Amino acid sequence: MPDAHRLTVNGRDHEVRCPDGTPLLWVLRDRLGLTGTRYGCGVGSCGACTVWVDGQPTHSCDTPIWSAAGKSVVTVEGLTEAGPHPVQRHLIDGQAGQCGYCLSGIVMRAAALVDQAHAEGRHVEGDEVRAALDGHLCRCGAHNRIVDAVVSAGGE
Ligand code: FES
Ligand code: FES
Repeated sequence: MPDAHRLTVNGRDHEVRCPDGTPLLWVLRDRLGLTGTRYGCGVGSCGACTVWVDGQPTHSCDTPIWSAAGKSVVTVEGLTEAGPHPVQRHLIDGQAGQCGYCLSGIVMRAAALVDQAHAEGRHVEGDEVRAALDGHLCRCGAHNRIVDAVVSAGGE
């Protein structure tokens, strides 16, 4: 029988039985029904699958479940308890996405950046946003509007 792995996802405790090497992404999508996290490349190269693991933006496609065991995972579904995060609001207000496939990963990376900046009492700059999102592919080419939205969120 596969090993049991315990982890917390969006504040709820779960025990999942699966082989040690099962990607966290498959556990989130197929076992827990959290399909907001996307599969893009599967090899850590596109950013679509980004979630937070113990507060750090992490590619869930190449994170084996054994390494997430005992940790706290946050997905785009659980990003805030109080409605949309400022990054999400500004992406919507700016109509920044096209197909939207890349956006949940981008939201998780950008929200971490904006939250860190706000905790430090500062705004985020465009160059900082571009650097943070450098590993996130957007096949629709919506990068400029996405960066503008994140900068606006970071300026709140
Ligand atoms: S699906 Fe994980 S980085 Fe592309
Ligand atoms: S909005 Fe389509 S991939 Fe980014």
